[in-house]
Order: sequence, then structure tokens, then C-alpha cells
Amino acid sequence: MTGKREHFGGRTAAILALAGSAIGLGNIWRFPYMVGQTGGAAFIIIYLLACLFLSVPIFLAEAIIGHRTHAGTFGALEQLAPGTKWKWLGLLTVFSPLIILSYYSVVGGWSIGYLFQSLTEGFHASDIGTVSSAYAKFISSPGRPLLFHTVFLLGCAVIVSAGVKSGIEKFNKITMPLLFALIVLIMTYSLSLPGAKEGVAYLVKPDFSKITPSAVAAAMGQSFFSLSLGVGTILTYASYIRREENILATGLGTVGFDLLFALIAGFAIMPAVFAAGIEPGAGPGLIFETLPYIFAKMGAAVPWVSAVVAVLFFFTIVFAAFTSAISMYEVGVAYLVEQRKLSRHKATVLIFVGTWILGALCSLSFGPLAQTKLFGLSIFSFCDMLTSNFLMTFGGLLFVLFVGWKMDKAVVRDEFTVGGTSRFNCAVFDAFWFLLRYVAPVAIVVIFFTNFFA
Ligand code: TRP
Repeated sequence: MTGKREHFGGRTAAILALAGSAIGLGNIWRFPYMVGQTGGAAFIIIYLLACLFLSVPIFLAEAIIGHRTHAGTFGALEQLAPGTKWKWLGLLTVFSPLIILSYYSVVGGWSIGYLFQSLTEGFHASDIGTVSSAYAKFISSPGRPLLFHTVFLLGCAVIVSAGVKSGIEKFNKITMPLLFALIVLIMTYSLSLPGAKEGVAYLVKPDFSKITPSAVAAAMGQSFFSLSLGVGTILTYASYIRREENILATGLGTVGFDLLFALIAGFAIMPAVFAAGIEPGAGPGLIFETLPYIFAKMGAAVPWVSAVVAVLFFFTIVFAAFTSAISMYEVGVAYLVEQRKLSRHKATVLIFVGTWILGALCSLSFGPLAQTKLFGLSIFSFCDMLTSNFLMTFGGLLFVLFVGWKMDKAVVRDEFTVGGTSRFNCAVFDAFWFLLRYVAPVAIVVIFFTNFFA
């Protein structure tokens, strides 16, 4: 409907942008850790099934809404269900990615700080306690984290304001292949370390006794998070995909890259963790405590190699975070440009101001604002909990219900089968429809309750 709306150049560009959104800290740390804790190869099999039978249908539900309407979240739902309450889902999914962006930018900023350190002084602590206290001191100081948060958000603003094609598409086209090359390089190095075998075993040894119902729910939750579902980013990016494109193929390509990156990241990190003789654990502490310690330890043996790997690693983390953050940023910009008729430039500035303020509060909640609590949580943890445990799953559930139960089946079929031209898509449509209407809603409710009560 909007004639001058921008589009991604082709399928590769679309897949790289979507994979850019999906591939982030979830792949680099959360996935490898979960694999090891939850049954190794057995978990990988469950995860694959969860991606294929749950996340792909949810991904496609979001993508169908965006692709059908060629509009951002709010406009898309208004177009498909005018004058109904569904517009609130549109509005919700304008705000949830911006809340994620605010605290994501704080962590992105920390990564820039560590990249900076790897380029200047490097890492030399002789024990993990020293590394941990340096990390605690860094994040609780008001100055530098705020500065790096600003730098990170500014970087996103520059890319997003350049537009869908010459900003987002171009950035992902350069960054994503580079990130793959870097993570493969780091993996090769990591696998060559003495003691790497134990890390490999941690990832591949199948232990089916660990596949409990809660492990299955964890696999579903992880695939949901890793694919950036439920907050309208997939919808918005899909709205920039050309009419004639096959969205099932695009979706499978994205999921494939996301999975591949997670697996390579696992084989890049775990062998090094085990070679350094430390126990793997979860959370941001691993990137900012465990890794610097590993680099320091390796540096004692061959300083320059360790220094180079440290730079490459933090570079990978910073840019993986950038490609995810710009997808959240774009959701808000698309809304302001399409619904509020702002120029792209003005929209970028407005979102910068809003997310900078919320991000600054999140950042300060590790230091001066540590005593300010919302429901007993710090501002940062509250934003994280609200989005990861609540808004993402709630949004995902509503998207799935919208496509499965509200939209006209003929329209959904038309989208899914590329107007009936793809024979493969026609053959699997009924399976998709069943997964979407019955399996996905139930699974999302299960994820929601495990997130909430586990
Ligand atoms: N998928 C991202 C990762 O693996 C994290 C993420 C969750 C995300 N929800 C999102 C990114 C929404 C962009 C938009 O790290």
C-alpha cells in the first residue's frame, strides 16, 4: 500500500538481516551453556525439533502478518483487523522491543568497554576473584558504562537512520559473513588448546536421562528467545521482504543460520572454558568474568595470540549485539514513520532519546540507583524480567492466535504457498496450519509458566 516503502534486495539480504536479529548473546553464551547442562547431544536433538515444529511456525506467523501488509506492527494489525482490539497488540509490540533495546544497549556498552580494554591494556588478572571484582567495579561506576551505552546506541542510530537498504541491509551484509568467519576462526583456535576434548565432550555426549519435561520447555524457550520471536521484530523485517519471495524458505534459512552459529559458538567457547579448568555457568558474568580470565591465563603462555583472540572475541560480541539491536530499533522507527508521519531522521532521534534515558536508568541501577526497586528487582532486572518472561511470550501467543484463529485461512495459505506457486509449501501447508493453531499456543503457555515459576 505504501508505494515508496523500501525493500530488502533479495532473499540473501533478507535472511542475513533476520539472522542478524536472531544471532546475539543468546547464541554465544546461553545456548552452549544450556546444551552442557541439559544433556549434551540429546538436548541438541530436542532443540532442533523445537526449532522446526514450534519456532518455525511462530516465526512464520509473525512474518506472514508483516509480509502480507508491508507495514510495521501497529499498521499491519490495523490493516488486517481494522477497528478491533488487536491494535493493542500492535502497540505493545512497538514498546516491548524498545524496552529490550534499552537494557541490551547497556550490555552492548559493556562489550564495547571490554573490546576497548582488549585493544589497550589486555587482560592480566592472575585469579578469577580479581577479574570478578574488576567487572563489579566497572558496571557499578556511573561514568564509563554510561559513555559506552551512549556509543552503542549512537552506533545503532546511525545505521537505522541510513534506511532499510543502505543502512540495515548493507550493515548486515558486511557484518554477518564477517561474524561467521570470526567465530569459525576462534573455534579452530579453541579446539587446538590442550584439554579442549573435555569441552567437546560436554557438548556432544548424549545423556538422555537429562531430557525431563523442564528440559524440553527450556529448549523451546531458548529457541523462542534465540529467534527474537514475539516482539514484532520478525514482523517488521518481514514487511521489507518483496511480495514474490518465499517466506518459508526465508524462515528456514534464518533458523538454519541461527542454529549453525549457536553450535559453532559452543565449540568456540566450551573447549577454552575447560582448557582453563573452570566450571561453566550462565549469565553475563561468563562473558565478562570467565572469558577475560581465560584470556589472561592463555596470555601467560603465548601473550600475542591470546591478545588477538581476545580482540576478535569481543569484536564478535559487540557486532552480534549491534545486528540484534538495530532490529529492535527499527520496530519503533517504522511505527513513527508510518503511523506518526515523522521523517526517518526525526524518528531515529526520538527513539534514541527515549531508549537512552531508560537505558541510563538501567545502567545506573548497578551503581547509584541500586536501591531503587520495582517489585523487588533493580531497574535493569525488572526490564529484563518484564520482557523475557512476560512480553515476549505474551506477544508470541497473540501473534500465533491472530494468524491461526483470526486471519482468513485462504489469505494465510496464499502467503505461505507464495500464491500457490510453491509445490513444496502447498504440500506442507496443512501440517503448518495444525502446528500453528494447536501446537504453538499450547507450547507457548508451557514456556510462559516454566519461565515464570521455574
Ligand atoms: N535473539 C537475540 C539473541 O539470541 C535476543 C533477542 C531476544 C532479540 N528478543 C529479541 C533480539 C528481539 C532482537 C529482537 O541474543
